[in-house]
Amino acid sequence: MIKMRGIMKYYSAGFGKTFVLRDINLDIEPGEFISIMGPSGAGKSTLLHILGMLDEPSDGEYEFLNERVHKLNEKTRSEIHSNYIGFVFQNYHLIDELTVYENLETPLLYKKIKGSERKSLVSDMLDRFNIVAKKDLFPNQLSGGQQQLVGVARALITSPKMILADEPTGNLNSKQGEEIMELFKQLNNEGTTIIQVTHSEKNASYGKRIINLLDGRIVEEAPL
Ligand SMILES: Nc1ncnc2c1ncn2[C@@H]1O[C@H](COP(=O)(O)OP(=O)(O)O)[C@@H](O)[C@H]1O
Ligand SMILES: [Mg+2]
Repeated sequence: MIKMRGIMKYYSAGFGKTFVLRDINLDIEPGEFISIMGPSGAGKSTLLHILGMLDEPSDGEYEFLNERVHKLNEKTRSEIHSNYIGFVFQNYHLIDELTVYENLETPLLYKKIKGSERKSLVSDMLDRFNIVAKKDLFPNQLSGGQQQLVGVARALITSPKMILADEPTGNLNSKQGEEIMELFKQLNNEGTTIIQVTHSEKNASYGKRIINLLDGRIVEEAPL
């Protein structure tokens, strides 16, 4: 499903370059559940953003479902993103001007799903995440944990083939966090590919493979 070869990411800094990812080689099969771990600043979010086609590598090759992503134009990349990928952002990334309901509806609009179906999908998600009472509130009227739940619900609403989640439970209490992990486990059992970034050993153990990043390199890959 995914093949990365020699992926590099750097930013120019003065006369030199700051490397964020160095020579990442990665193969991911459909239906895998992977946990990415590593210290802060290791490049985890950058790698996840490149996997999700939200950021471009500086160098290297990235194939997703046999498409050479590094050769695609931005429009095609964002279509693939919308059609296949649900992304949970580390900092939620909700749209401030839209209500919870409208935030959940946004990915469905991108996928051109019609009104009546949008309505029922949004209602299902509001129910499933216990946030029906919050549907008309704006993100700044929610706690961090509630915003995170909306961020996860928004990522799942299109039933994506692949979920990329950047510390999806970082602001949830332990019960909510466990519910999200159980939900991921269930989706993975149904065939969804999941790649999560986590600092929690317990959450990482929901995955079937751990990728450890250090200073932008994969230092160890361990099957669980
Ligand atoms: N736009 C940018 N310009 C310069 N450096 C950046 C930029 N974005 C990220 N970085 C740097 O890349 C490194 C890795 O960041 P990140 O992928 O967010 O790490 P992690 O998610 O593992 O904490 C950090 O040192 C960060 O400062
Ligand atoms: Mg990060």
